[in-house]
Amino acid sequence: MPCASWGGLPKRMILTAGEPGARLTHRLLAWFSENSRSLPWRFTSDPYAIVVAEFMLHQTRVSTVLAYYDRFLQRFPSWEALARSSLDDVLKSWEGMGYYARARNLHRLARQVSDPYRGQLPQSKEALRALPGIGEYTAGAILSMVFGQDEPAIDGNVRRVLSRLFALTADPGTHPGRRQILQAARSLLPPGQAGTFNQALMDLGALICTPRHPACPACPWVENCLARQRGLQDELPIRSPSRPLPHYDVAAAVIWREGKILIAQRPPSGLLGGLWEFPGGKRLADESLKDCAAREVREELLIEIEVGPLLARIDHAYTHFRITLHAFTCRYEGGEPRAIGCTAWRWVRPEKLDQYAFPAANRRIIDQLRQCETGPADQAWMPDRIGQE
Ligand code: ADE
Repeated sequence: MPCASWGGLPKRMILTAGEPGARLTHRLLAWFSENSRSLPWRFTSDPYAIVVAEFMLHQTRVSTVLAYYDRFLQRFPSWEALARSSLDDVLKSWEGMGYYARARNLHRLARQVSDPYRGQLPQSKEALRALPGIGEYTAGAILSMVFGQDEPAIDGNVRRVLSRLFALTADPGTHPGRRQILQAARSLLPPGQAGTFNQALMDLGALICTPRHPACPACPWVENCLARQRGLQDELPIRSPSRPLPHYDVAAAVIWREGKILIAQRPPSGLLGGLWEFPGGKRLADESLKDCAAREVREELLIEIEVGPLLARIDHAYTHFRITLHAFTCRYEGGEPRAIGCTAWRWVRPEKLDQYAFPAANRRIIDQLRQCETGPADQAWMPDRIGQE
């Protein structure tokens, strides 16, 4: 069955229900014009505002991004404003959204783009991909939505929709799987309307072609979807079986000295880079959690502490592992802190902790500290009632 599509799928990947790609695309765009989500980054033509949205949306769901986006743009309204700001301020505005490398990269990108000699966002995929934090997806999103170029932008929603429409059975995490999806997207891409088309696919994936229980009867492609015709809509896209995440016990020390608590800043790159935390780290085999807290603090900051009662026990999942974070109330014993395994350290009054960006699991330690305001479990270990210094 020949297939009249713009991109031209290989013969073995014949389109759906014999319908030309142009007509399929037309139906999607008609659906989108009636059903698109009203999202703030769709009402601007400012490249900066669109790039900020795409950095945030890469790995974070729309509902979460909506809680951050306007505030971020008010605080950093332009490339120049972002470039002038400290990374600490940017991370504070990003706090809770996770994947903090995006915030660090966006900040670096702002410094490059607003450089008076080298500045400006480039308009080619190669040049964009050479910039901090811009991979295949973000480059496609910027080229199509900012510069109107005929480029696909393939995120998780788009992968799911196209896998089902064409009943693609290769794992989209593999090279052949990615190639098939790219070909499928290109075969439908309407010249001159790629930005709208990409966002229409995203909305179809978010609203109709959902991971579980897709609302097929409401789909503009219900008659064309090969997965539905074959009863495969719940099986596709193929997911490789996920391995159980490794688990680690981590001890953290909430160290008090004269009404203040010691916090440390993580090194600038790597997991949670640049964020502040209560010092601590992974427990070694055969080590007690309290010994672990004392050792980590010694290694990180060269000070001695006495480790007291458990303040909080928090389970938290990262992308590739899970932790149980055991936070202990501790007393400073001696030594002048030195930034050995961290970038910086500060003694901070508890009510000032909110000025710093903390990872989510550490935020929950702060919540627990706040609860102790009304009656710490062990008064002897909490000589300085929070908020009363
Ligand atoms: N996810 C990534 N980019 C998006 C956009 N522009 N609109 C909706 N969801 C998205």
